[in-house]
Amino acid sequence: MSAVLGINPGFGGFNYHDPSACLVIDGKPVAAVEEERFTRVKSAPGVFPAQAVEYVLNAGGLTVADLDAVAVGYSSDAWLERLPLETRALLAHPDLAALAATAPGALDVPRAREALAAATRRLGDLLHRTALFETGERAAERIAERLPGLRAPVRFVRHHRAHAASAMHPAGFADPVALVLDGLGEIECGSLWDTAADGAPRQLRRTDLPNSLGYFYAAITEYLGFKGWEGEGKTMALAPYGHADAAASGALAELAHVVPDAPDPYDVSGLVLPCLGEQLSLDTGRAVALLAELFQAPPRRPGDTLTEHHRNIAWAAQDFLERAVTATVRSAAAERGPLELTFAGGVALNCKLNLVLRQLPEARRLYVPGPCSDTGLSLGAALDVAASHGDDPRHPLPHLALGPGADTDPEKYLTTMTIPHHRPADPAAEVARHLADGKVVMWYQGRCEFGPRALGSRSILADPRREDMVAKVNEVVKHRELWRPFGPSLLAEHAHTVLKGAEPGEQAPYMVVAYQVREEWAERIPAVVHTADATTRPQFVTAQALPDYHAVISAFHQLTGVPLVLNTSFNDKDEPLVRTVAQAVRHFYSSAADVLVLDGTFVLKEAP
Ligand SMILES: [Fe+2]
Repeated sequence: MSAVLGINPGFGGFNYHDPSACLVIDGKPVAAVEEERFTRVKSAPGVFPAQAVEYVLNAGGLTVADLDAVAVGYSSDAWLERLPLETRALLAHPDLAALAATAPGALDVPRAREALAAATRRLGDLLHRTALFETGERAAERIAERLPGLRAPVRFVRHHRAHAASAMHPAGFADPVALVLDGLGEIECGSLWDTAADGAPRQLRRTDLPNSLGYFYAAITEYLGFKGWEGEGKTMALAPYGHADAAASGALAELAHVVPDAPDPYDVSGLVLPCLGEQLSLDTGRAVALLAELFQAPPRRPGDTLTEHHRNIAWAAQDFLERAVTATVRSAAAERGPLELTFAGGVALNCKLNLVLRQLPEARRLYVPGPCSDTGLSLGAALDVAASHGDDPRHPLPHLALGPGADTDPEKYLTTMTIPHHRPADPAAEVARHLADGKVVMWYQGRCEFGPRALGSRSILADPRREDMVAKVNEVVKHRELWRPFGPSLLAEHAHTVLKGAEPGEQAPYMVVAYQVREEWAERIPAVVHTADATTRPQFVTAQALPDYHAVISAFHQLTGVPLVLNTSFNDKDEPLVRTVAQAVRHFYSSAADVLVLDGTFVLKEAP
C-alpha cells in the first residue's frame, strides 16, 4: 500500500522537456497530466511540473506530506556515464578542431580566444552538472526543495527502465518484453527488457549514444524542413508518397546500416556522432549540413515545395527505421520465440513502424502505451517504485482520461458570458446529427487525456465520409498540411469490419498504431485514410472505457452506417490541448468550428 508521485522534472540537467506528474496509489494510476496543459507552452521545456503535481495530489485527495515516495524517471548516478562521450564531443567541437588544424604560426588569435572561451563555458557547465549529479542526495535535494512539506524519499529510476515499466505493467501480458527506443536517456538510446523473478523489468540489452534511432529520425526531419522532436510525424506521413530510389536510399546507406546478426542490429553512429552538440543534444545545424553533403542537395526550408527528392528521402528514412527495428525484434525473438512485445520511448510514436511490428510473426502481440514518449516517464517511474513497495502495478489503462476536468461549471460560465446555450435530452444524437450535416464539433467531455493524442475528451470531430472535411477541419486547427490525414475514433466492436488484420475484441485505445483499411471501407471514409497507402491511425472506443464518447459514435453509426468519426486534437495553433472552459470557448469563437459541447451543454454558431 503506497502513494507514489511520479515526476518528469524538466529542469537543471534532468530530462529537460515534457515535464509531467502522475499519482499512483496502491499500484494504480489515479491522475496524470503534463505541465504544458497549465503553462500553455507546448512541451513546457525547462519547467518543474509544479501545477501538474498540485493537480494530481488534489485529484487523489492527498498532500505532499502523505506521499510514500517521489519517483523520478531519470537516474542521477547513471547520468555520470555521459561524461566520457560528452567530454569527447566537447573536444571534437568544430571550433576547437579547426584551431587544432591551424598551421603553426598562423593562429587567428581573436578566433582562438572565442573558441577557447566557448569551450571553457561548456566545460564549466559540464563540471557543474557533474557536481550536481555526483551523489544522488544532491539531486534529491533539488527535487525536494520544489516539494515543500515532503517527508518521503526521492527515488531515481533509470530513464529507459521508466519507459519499460510504463509499457510492461499496463499491457496485461503474461510474459511481456519491452523494447525502448528514443533519442537519449542518460546515455542509452535503445534497450530491451523482460521480467525478473520479482516482477520488475530486467534489462537484457542496451544500445548507447551515438547509435540513436531517435537522433537519426530527428536529423532527417530537420533536413526535410520540419522541426526535429516535433515534426517526425510529418516525415512519417510523407514517406508513403515517395519510393525507393538510388539517390536517397543509396546515399543514406553510407551512414545508416542494418546488420541483422550483430549484437546491435543497426548502426547510425556515423550520422549521429559528428552531430553531437551541447549536453549531447543533436546539433541540428551540423546534422542538416552533413545530410546536405550526403544527398548533394540543400536542405528544404520550411514552407518550400515538397519535391520528389524530399518524398524519397522520407521514404528511405522510414524504410530504414522499419528495417532496423524489425531486425531488433527478430533478434530478440530468435532467442525467446514469438514475443508479447511492448514498445515505448519517443520512437514508438511512429505509428507506421508500429503497424509493421504488429504484423511480424515474431511479435505475437503488441502494446504501445499512449504516453510512450517522455511525458510517460512520470507514469513509468511511479509504477516501478510502487512495485518496489510491494504494490501490484499491473493495472490496464483502458483510457487515459487521467487529467483535470472542467475548471468551472460550463452552464454557469456561459450564462455569465451571455452566450446562448442548451442541454439536449440526447446529446449523443444531437452531435451525430450535426456531424452528418457536415458540421465541425468541438467536444469537451470529462477529464482530459494524458499523453500526446486527443482521445475523446478534448477532441474536434467531423464526418469521415466527406473528403471536404479535411480542408474544413484544417481551417479550424490551422496547423496541418493537407497531405496529412486525420485519424478516426472507431467503435471497438466494429474495428475488425473496417480494418485489415484487427481481431474481434482487439484493443487499440491510444491512436499509436496504424492499421490498413479494408478496400471496401477506404473509399467510404476518405477523410481519415492516407491516400498513398490506405492506412489510418485509429482509436478503438469501448462503452466501458468512454461511455459518453462511445454513445456519440454509436449515434453517428445509427444515422449513417459508419461506425467512426474523424477525431483530431482540440487546441489552437501551436498550443497544447485546451484545459479550461474559457480556453475552449475562446478557441471555438476564434475558429471556423460550428458546434461546441462542454460536458453536455451545447453552443451553436448558427441558430438550430
Ligand atoms: Fe525517452
